Amino acid sequence: MFPVFLIFVFSFSWPITSSANTHQDFLRCLSSSLNSNDSASISRLVYTQRSSNYSSVLESRIHNSRFITPTSTRPLVIVTPLHVSHVQSTIRCSKKHGLQLRTRSGGHDFEGVSYVSESEAPFVVVDLANLRSIDIDVENEVAWVQSGAIMGELYYAVAQKSRTLAFPGALCHGVAFGGFISSGGYGLLFRKYGIAADNVVDAELIDVKGRILNRKSMGEDLFWAIRGGGGGSFGIVLSWKVKLVRVPEIVTVFSTSRTLEQNATQLLHRWQYITSQFPDGMFPSITITTTNTTVDNRNRTVVASFNTMFLGRANELIPLMQNIFPELGLTVQDYSEMSFVESILVLGQLPPENLEILLNRSYRISYLVATPSFKAKSDYIKKPIPEIGFQGIWSQLLEPEARTATLNLAAYGGIMDEIPESAVPYPHRNGNIYEISYTIRWREEDNVDSEIYISWMRKLYDYMTPFVSKSPREAYVGYRDLDIGRNEDDGQTSYGRASVWGRKYYKNNFDRLVKIKTMIDPHNFFRHEQSIPPYFG
Ligand SMILES: Cc1cc2nc3c(=O)[nH]c(=O)nc-3n(C[C@H](O)[C@H](O)[C@H](O)COP(=O)(O)OP(=O)(O)OC[C@H]3O[C@@H](n4cnc5c(N)ncnc54)[C@H](O)[C@@H]3O)c2cc1C
Ligand SMILES: *[C@@H]1O[C@H](CO)[C@@H](O)[C@H](O)[C@H]1NC(C)=O
Ligand SMILES: *[C@@H]1O[C@H](CO)[C@@H](O)[C@H](O)[C@H]1NC(C)=O
Ligand SMILES: *[C@@H]1O[C@H](CO)[C@@H](O)[C@H](O)[C@H]1NC(C)=O
Ligand SMILES: *[C@@H]1O[C@H](CO)[C@@H](O)[C@H](O)[C@H]1NC(C)=O
Ligand SMILES: *[C@@H]1O[C@H](CO)[C@@H](O)[C@H](O)[C@H]1NC(C)=O
Ligand SMILES: *[C@@H]1O[C@H](CO)[C@@H](O)[C@H](O)[C@H]1NC(C)=O
Repeated sequence: MFPVFLIFVFSFSWPITSSANTHQDFLRCLSSSLNSNDSASISRLVYTQRSSNYSSVLESRIHNSRFITPTSTRPLVIVTPLHVSHVQSTIRCSKKHGLQLRTRSGGHDFEGVSYVSESEAPFVVVDLANLRSIDIDVENEVAWVQSGAIMGELYYAVAQKSRTLAFPGALCHGVAFGGFISSGGYGLLFRKYGIAADNVVDAELIDVKGRILNRKSMGEDLFWAIRGGGGGSFGIVLSWKVKLVRVPEIVTVFSTSRTLEQNATQLLHRWQYITSQFPDGMFPSITITTTNTTVDNRNRTVVASFNTMFLGRANELIPLMQNIFPELGLTVQDYSEMSFVESILVLGQLPPENLEILLNRSYRISYLVATPSFKAKSDYIKKPIPEIGFQGIWSQLLEPEARTATLNLAAYGGIMDEIPESAVPYPHRNGNIYEISYTIRWREEDNVDSEIYISWMRKLYDYMTPFVSKSPREAYVGYRDLDIGRNEDDGQTSYGRASVWGRKYYKNNFDRLVKIKTMIDPHNFFRHEQSIPPYFG
């Protein structure tokens, strides 16, 4: 027995001890580099797997439950900095003790790369939720926003100070600035003012050496890269200086649904030809779902909801819609006037009665609570899809496993056609009629095989191939999809694989991103499954 026991100990204890030592060394490094006044509150800063609040801190900012399973990797340590120096210490100690590091602001990453890792390597999560101050300068129409702030907090804070200022942020109130601007970031105002990254005028970043850099000290290359080059590649962005934009005191919203029996197919088909006639100050979008999602599969039909926000009064919008899209058959009752910030609530499906809901990071719409796991993908449409193409989508949407599938279409055009593809890394500009995102949701339970849903999504994506952008088939990095590049023939090098998703997310901007990465972080400290690789990385 004795020798067997020894073998057991020797073959299995070494890696465990090593990891535990790394872990202890890292924690010692962290506590010694935090000031003594911080040590008192170290339990509010550092959560190890043994901390009683570890799971709640980890899971409170996981927006895709696909990554909270017994087999999901979990960070060794979560650090929730209260001060910039804590971020610097975490970078320094992770580097020193060979731990990987993931940065999380709002935790909305579709593939969870801000808090799970596909590799076995132990890692630390820096969670910036406490770094969320917002400083608005109404006179100069700018704001400094820390990365941990959510969209709702800025919308709310701006609305408190002005009815005619806004920010071109996300549709959903809970998305945080860190990942959103790192992805480019589009929303209600993007056809008039561009994506969020187009409206960033300065930023503060901590690089791999722990230096705090601003636009001037980081230089224009790095400042370009962080505005849409995907998060988690270049450093940790602490805060962003953004331009606020003008909106009228009153905007108009309409939302109207049509089933297949009410000619949804013909209306959608027609919509594709007229989006360019919609004024810039309009956000024309369509959500496609199926009805009777929970009963049985009989009598299901496809429903297209035409949702729009318009920067102007109803009496301007009504004749405009009558002129451009009479087929939709809107009636006066379909239109509602409200403030811009109220339109965020209405189109975000939040209860419209109190604006304070925008400040609630844990508030989620009921269907997100009911089906917290999802898989999503995105595409860009450059020529109208024929009606027969839509028929094929409907037959997939009406399959039994697709009850919770949703397609979202957001019209492009407006100023998006005028901003050059190389202005910031986000390249999806002129020539797109609309972007389409596909989502399927479910609840992980013992008897649910999530592969059914994921396979359904992949099948739909295959089906869409002839109708969407080609060479490359573009995709939005904000809707990260780890399938991309996984199975494509790429010469098998990690750089080759990266260039597959890299060209889809960034088109020709990928090469410049790689050059900048090579300069700023040649040893690839800031990395995840789809971070920008350095040459030879
Ligand atoms: C419900 C929902 C609604 C959405 N709506 C929109 C929308 O309307 N428009 C749109 O464009 N996108 C939208 N998105 C996509 C969203 O913008 C991206 O998922 C974005 O990356 C989320 O940012 P986050 O900080 O919340 O996520 P995180 O998971 O925290 O971060 C995402 C990525 O950015 C990195 N990162 C985070 N913070 C930093 C930082 N401070 N410095 C450097 N890297 C960082 C992370 O490491 C990770 O790679 C939505 C997503 C969800 C889940
Ligand atoms: C720690 O305390 C010192 C002196 O009281 C103070 O100057 C410093 O700002 C504090 N550090 C932090 C991170 O709060
Ligand atoms: C743990 O969570 C509880 C409840 O949310 C809170 O009261 C407590 O302060 C937290 N403890 C730490 C160490 O963060
Ligand atoms: C659908 O379109 C047809 C032909 O264009 C039209 O006759 C019919 O009234 C429409 N149905 C509805 C419900 O609008
Ligand atoms: C939904 O199903 C119910 C019965 O299951 C049916 O009466 C109803 O017409 C269906 N609704 C639609 C829009 O198909
Ligand atoms: C489906 O609709 C048809 C008529 O459209 C109706 O006769 C039938 O009862 C419905 N089935 C269910 C399950 O509701
Ligand atoms: C925020 O939303 C959550 C989830 O809906 C709810 O439980 C909580 O009470 C809300 N918090 C506040 C302050 O309203």
